[in-house]
Amino acid sequence: LWTSLDVVQETGSTNADLAARAPELSEGTVLVAEEQLSGRGRLDRRWSAPARSGIFFSVLLRPTAPVEKWGWLPLLTGVAVASAVSRIAGVDTGLKWPNDLMVTVGDEERKAGGILAELAGGGIVIGVGINVTLRADELPVPTAGSLGLAQAAVTDRDPLLRAVLRSLEEWYGRWQEAGGDAAASGVQAAYAAGCVTLGRAVRAELPGGEALTGEAVALDAEGRLVLATGDGVQRPVGAGDIVHLR
Ligand code: BTN
Repeated sequence: LWTSLDVVQETGSTNADLAARAPELSEGTVLVAEEQLSGRGRLDRRWSAPARSGIFFSVLLRPTAPVEKWGWLPLLTGVAVASAVSRIAGVDTGLKWPNDLMVTVGDEERKAGGILAELAGGGIVIGVGINVTLRADELPVPTAGSLGLAQAAVTDRDPLLRAVLRSLEEWYGRWQEAGGDAAASGVQAAYAAGCVTLGRAVRAELPGGEALTGEAVALDAEGRLVLATGDGVQRPVGAGDIVHLR
């Protein structure tokens, strides 16, 4: 799958770089940066991390599965990242819906990674950021963590990156073979098994300003999080909504 892999010392954002060049790039292009000066996060947030403190990369995919199913790609990437990181780094990881990689630091659940998918040039750019050796005094926000702070057995970035790319290739291959069907490919079940949000009480902020509270009970066929808001009412929330664990 991985047709080319470039490593740059420094750039603004690997997602922005691949998105700008997407029309001329083939599926499987990988761009890794040692440092990003204007890393992007979901919901117009920033992703900032000191040089070489983590793994920052983006891939360009051109799925043959129907575009309505592409919403599963960031979730599928989360499954791939979490399983590779757990195995190689030897830390327990969880996925906070939709795609935060969570680890345990002391007795707290902290975000050690995130995924940002953006449509570009007829394909989809998927960016992955993982805090690997980031120290407590370097955390961008108090709720952040890193594999090192979660007592990882391995914090060498190269083997971790290789394992993540191998795992992503496997999961993507399975999903493509199933025509993008998250249930048939096992992506939905693997995501649900790794998701720390399911079964918890959450509050969702919808773009219109409305807030919903309820228990996260399921993922629907599009990968949305289904909340039971009381009186038997179930409401799906999408990736554009902000979800807080309570
Ligand atoms: C999030 O948690 O909101 C998503 C963070 C995604 C960060 C990665 S780092 C590599 C790639 N390039 C970017 O500018 N962002 C993603």
